[in-house]
Amino acid sequence: MKKASFSLMGKTLNLDQIEGKYSAFAKVPYALTLRTSKPLAEDGYGVALVDGVVVSQGVGFLMDSIIKLNCLMIPVGEVANEYDREYTLTLSKFVAADGTPFKERSFRFRTLPRRQQDPAYRKHNELALQAAREGMVLLKNKNNVLPLAANAVLNCFGAAQHMFRNTSTGASLINPRWQSNFHQAVQEHSGFSVNTTLCRLYKGLKDPVPSPQQMQKAQNVSDTAVLFISRTSGEFMDNKPVKGGYYLTDEEHQMIKAVSEAFPKTLAILNTGYPIEMGWVNQYGVDAVIYTGFAGQAAGYALVELLDGRTNPSGKLPDTWAFDYYDYPSAKNFINFGPEDKVPGEKDKGVLLYYEEDIYVGYRYFDTFQQPVAYGFGHGLSYSEFEIEPLGASFDGEEVSANVRITNHGMAAGKEVAQLYIHAPDGTLEKANRVLAAFEKTGLLEPGESQTIKLAADRMSFASFREKDASYILEEGHYTIFCGNSLQNSVEVDAFDLAESQVLRTVEHINPPIEQFHRMTRELPYVQEDSKMVKLEQRHTTSAPRPIYDPAPLKAEQAKKITYQMLQDDPRLLDAFVAQMSDKELCLLNVCGGANWYMPWDDGSAGKTIKLSKYGLPQIRVSDGNTGLNIKRPNIGFPSSTVMAATFNKELAHKVGMAIGEESKENGIAINLGPGMNIHRNILNGRHPEYFSEDPMLAGTMAGYHGKGLIDSGTGCTYKHLFCNNSDTSRKGSHSIVSEQAMREIYYRVFEVATNIQMPRCVMTSYNSVNGIYPAENADVLQRLVRGEWGFDGPIMTDWGTYDTVDPVEMVKAGNCWLTEGSRKYSRILLQAVKDGKLSRSVLQHNVRYLVRAILRPST
Ligand code: BGC
Repeated sequence: MKKASFSLMGKTLNLDQIEGKYSAFAKVPYALTLRTSKPLAEDGYGVALVDGVVVSQGVGFLMDSIIKLNCLMIPVGEVANEYDREYTLTLSKFVAADGTPFKERSFRFRTLPRRQQDPAYRKHNELALQAAREGMVLLKNKNNVLPLAANAVLNCFGAAQHMFRNTSTGASLINPRWQSNFHQAVQEHSGFSVNTTLCRLYKGLKDPVPSPQQMQKAQNVSDTAVLFISRTSGEFMDNKPVKGGYYLTDEEHQMIKAVSEAFPKTLAILNTGYPIEMGWVNQYGVDAVIYTGFAGQAAGYALVELLDGRTNPSGKLPDTWAFDYYDYPSAKNFINFGPEDKVPGEKDKGVLLYYEEDIYVGYRYFDTFQQPVAYGFGHGLSYSEFEIEPLGASFDGEEVSANVRITNHGMAAGKEVAQLYIHAPDGTLEKANRVLAAFEKTGLLEPGESQTIKLAADRMSFASFREKDASYILEEGHYTIFCGNSLQNSVEVDAFDLAESQVLRTVEHINPPIEQFHRMTRELPYVQEDSKMVKLEQRHTTSAPRPIYDPAPLKAEQAKKITYQMLQDDPRLLDAFVAQMSDKELCLLNVCGGANWYMPWDDGSAGKTIKLSKYGLPQIRVSDGNTGLNIKRPNIGFPSSTVMAATFNKELAHKVGMAIGEESKENGIAINLGPGMNIHRNILNGRHPEYFSEDPMLAGTMAGYHGKGLIDSGTGCTYKHLFCNNSDTSRKGSHSIVSEQAMREIYYRVFEVATNIQMPRCVMTSYNSVNGIYPAENADVLQRLVRGEWGFDGPIMTDWGTYDTVDPVEMVKAGNCWLTEGSRKYSRILLQAVKDGKLSRSVLQHNVRYLVRAILRPST
């Protein structure tokens, strides 16, 4: 029988880049990927050795994002953990799914040298460090166990200490020029030392409890234990409410219990991409907890500064951390189908998600229904004590404004965040108890120093949407203004009364649900249904009627050819420039020019437009880059968006956007495909770290300032994903059913807040459908809401490969200007539709007009 075979897909291992482009890779840190000639049997794992030492079992999977390949990932980094060295991988006794044995093979591979700081980027590097410092959140600090003495000896527990994660995966992956993990930071940037015996014990992927002798030795070394918990998260795959996901593994439990019993000072470092179950903190008496999230290239440096007190923590949680996953009202209506069930893949099935929690997302639920939480929204401790003193508040009919004086009464210099919440009166509409309406962060306050801050809240931020007449209103009654340094600590500072209800804006009904479903109310504060699987055929069917978009044709007024050069000199020629194009040229431009990430010779950017030499129209490149450019050339790596949100620092978000924009320009990227700002509806969305917050005001504000930075640098930004990309597994097959009120107050609102701060250059539609129709092909959403209400006048693009599940012609007909990632196949489909009378030339013209304008002025 012919034996099955392996081939190594890359001969180098980059220890600085522990996560791969695809989340399947990220599940196995420090791994090499092999191609297998046949799929591996589930129990067909043989033995993998690195330089003769056995490493753990890898993961076999089918990679089919681009082409179908059977793969196997082996965590070689368990042994190959030194930079710049050659190692040998040997594989034996593996068996394919059809029973064929694999040929025994050995491969040589190298670890790459560590990347070095580039002094030319000193300012950006400092900014990355500043963002990481401000985004880490001190959740608990019993008896002020932190900060530690500058020369403390640390006993570090947990395999996660060696796989310190700085980035989420998929679209928002960073590729920094330089980065530091925890141990590098201890050596290079602190006076700490570590117990090296323990470090060695945790090399590998296990979390063993040390033997009594090892524990005794560690206790003799010092009284301080640092526990590491890490969880990856990223595009393509949601996380699960299972041990090793949302819950701790049994091993982690045993380790934490044993360590907390043995040491008087126990600290936990949560290097996770999303909130996890936290009952163990009190159960085992862990003294201090720091949430690092994925804090970018300087995460290690920022963390050691926090531990020794050089930095005073000032991060605040942008999400509610519940006691248990099932406390979140969206838990049942999410893609998870129980611990043992396999998560359905995009190719098999879709899922129907009823947003029964309605407007009660995140703290809006917990605060309204007085449900206890582990750590609440806006929570974050400091090494100082701050007082927030109200100096008076008022409502002038347009805006609530409150002045507060913040004083640092502690011993350490630090920053504080003033948060303003508004309670609106009960009335005819469902309302959350309180909503965040404004926030501001202080500068660095020395001990004893004060700063007076004005918090200003637009009345739209606490208005309710009345579905009956599609109006935003403030209902009559008593409004209370709360202020504090977290939702829980906020106290009433003032109040005002509205004698009658005010209608702030009446709009059109856009994309309402076409079926009745149970919605959580104050009267019925529960959810009824579990999410439902739907069959493959169903996900291609959208049941809502398709609205029509029918713009007037552009007319070619000039007889002579208008070149791009002429258009640059006189942008008023735009209509005429587009009008002269043939149907074929319009169809070519309405489709992107393909992705560049898998071409060995290309830059790894996500896509490009099509060049039309006849008119001198150039091609532009676009790349992902919420937190740094996701291209092959190393560049800057900022914290993930959730960590940025935790800074509550608008100015910092602006600077970060600017820096990414500057590096985009340097790398020939005209438009950045970020920021992503979908609401954290469910904490297990794989893209949780890539998005900002559960609150539309916080998420929209931070995303808006980030977008403004990109634009101010001269690069374009893209707000994505419109709308409700709230589950990434099976995202192309996911159908969200959402009320108009929830869409208006939460899911549209976040984008509206951001566009009010900065209009983006592009917007990107999502893969999923909303209320029976895909946003990508919904002319009401694209034309009446995005263009009409928001006034957006740039190109709308689809998410990559949306045409796999949504009709390309319908998307273009609705006004989607770029069918990404695109290929000639799709421009031919469009051209045929024009010939068949199914697609009008005028729609194509308008779409292309927006696109050409973006090419002309990517940033303004
Ligand atoms: C992601 C987008 C991203 C695009 C291009 C898609 O898979 O959903 O957020 O911009 O790929 O990389």
